[in-house]
Amino acid sequence: MEKIKRTKIVDLLKSEAFGSTVNVKGWVRTRRGSKQVNFIALNDGSTIHNIQIVVDVEKLGEEFLKPITTGASLSVNGTLVKSQGKGQNVEIQATEIEIYGTADPNTYPLQKKGHSMEFLREIAHLRPRTNTFGAIFRIRHNMAYAIHKFFHDRGFFYFHTPIITASDCEGAGQMFQVTTMNLYDLKKDEKGSIIYDGDFFGKQTSLTVSGQLEGELAATALGAIYTFGPTFRAENSNTPRHLAEFWMIEPEVAFADLPELMDLEEEFIKYCVQWALDHCQDDLQFLNDMFDKGLIERLQGVLKETFVRLPYTEGIKILEEAVAKGHKFEFPVYWGCDLASEHERYLVEEHFRKPVIMIDYPKEIKAFYMKQNEDGKTVQGTDVLFPQIGEIIGGSVREENYDKLMARIEELHIPMKDMWWYLDTRRYGTVPHAGFGLGFERLLLFVTGMSNIRDVIPFPRTPKNAEF
Ligand code: 4AD
Ligand code: MG
Repeated sequence: MEKIKRTKIVDLLKSEAFGSTVNVKGWVRTRRGSKQVNFIALNDGSTIHNIQIVVDVEKLGEEFLKPITTGASLSVNGTLVKSQGKGQNVEIQATEIEIYGTADPNTYPLQKKGHSMEFLREIAHLRPRTNTFGAIFRIRHNMAYAIHKFFHDRGFFYFHTPIITASDCEGAGQMFQVTTMNLYDLKKDEKGSIIYDGDFFGKQTSLTVSGQLEGELAATALGAIYTFGPTFRAENSNTPRHLAEFWMIEPEVAFADLPELMDLEEEFIKYCVQWALDHCQDDLQFLNDMFDKGLIERLQGVLKETFVRLPYTEGIKILEEAVAKGHKFEFPVYWGCDLASEHERYLVEEHFRKPVIMIDYPKEIKAFYMKQNEDGKTVQGTDVLFPQIGEIIGGSVREENYDKLMARIEELHIPMKDMWWYLDTRRYGTVPHAGFGLGFERLLLFVTGMSNIRDVIPFPRTPKNAEF
């Protein structure tokens, strides 16, 4: 076959170089047609759209065309022409086709359209080849790019925090241990505790639940930083919003206070949503048409709204009033309770009908590092609550006062030996500072309109599932 430089389908579909000879490579979506002429819909992943290849059956031979079934991979040389048919502007009149690989229709799982999302999860190694997952993963890439651009343009530095750590940032004890010890022959002391001296790091280590603590070290030096990395939580939550391995973005800003933190959270999410609307139109339109007719409208809607700033205590009042009026929640509502996602969604979807930033939580339900308010009861935590999702961001102003922070650490019996380096930020040149964590997949749930978090990450890790 004649060697011609390959052009991606996304570019060919925009081209007006009619009459030119081109090469296109990709995977067959469908082949249909008559004894005289065949139409192959070819996709190469560069766009949701296929290019139509028109084949003169007599010229290439019926036998030759037979193995060109759904999923087969091809290289096609041909002439770019203005399309006669509906639905596309350009097509390729094939002169030569090379078949790279066939896909036996008797065994290739992606045959008919309309596979269930559950089935596609079982074949997560092939699902990127579907229109739906192609769209989702292109959007995922675009969101990652937008996030880096947002922070870079505002003078934040991308800071890499460790994945293996000896500290539990959130103090929730949901960590995956990392060890090279022989689990069949663990050395224990007389109390039965495992002796880690001989382990790889000489101490107990785990996969990180957050890069925040190290992020604070950087923010109090570089001024404003963000992390963007894999995060691990061994919480046994089999919900559509939890993963055991997810990606988190954690900006941390020196000299920021609560209003500035909330403004950053709101501006950041809106920037990402705007980016998707501007740069992922075709993929969003596809998801809108196929799954969720309100998707694009919902994304545009969020941009118009100012997020509500709501103190926890007021939020509880609203929920208690709802209960008094007969609204049924599965979990009880009272001052001091940790809000369940049904509560968060009531506030966002039914009461305010727009995103809510909830602040000033009871200190008992939040992490040790949050700045304590004058009332002695609440802390300057911020959760950003979103329609369909619930909590999309968790953040706070940090307690910068050494004595107050120490008092809280002692109250919670957090082992000091793990914390000395963190406390040095408060011991030397401490400053007010604040930051937050955005769950990347929670953002993607909102932007793609998918209803299960397993469908916005290529290879989900959840309880009892680490396939692929
Ligand atoms: O609210 P979280 O636990 O906050 C922190 O980890 C802080 N250290 C962040 C900070 O202030 N730098 O988690 C932050 C966000 C949540 O709002 C949620 O979007 C996401 O991370 N998240 C999860 N996403 C998917 N699966 C899970 N198991 C998640 N746990 C948290
Ligand atoms: Mg949280």
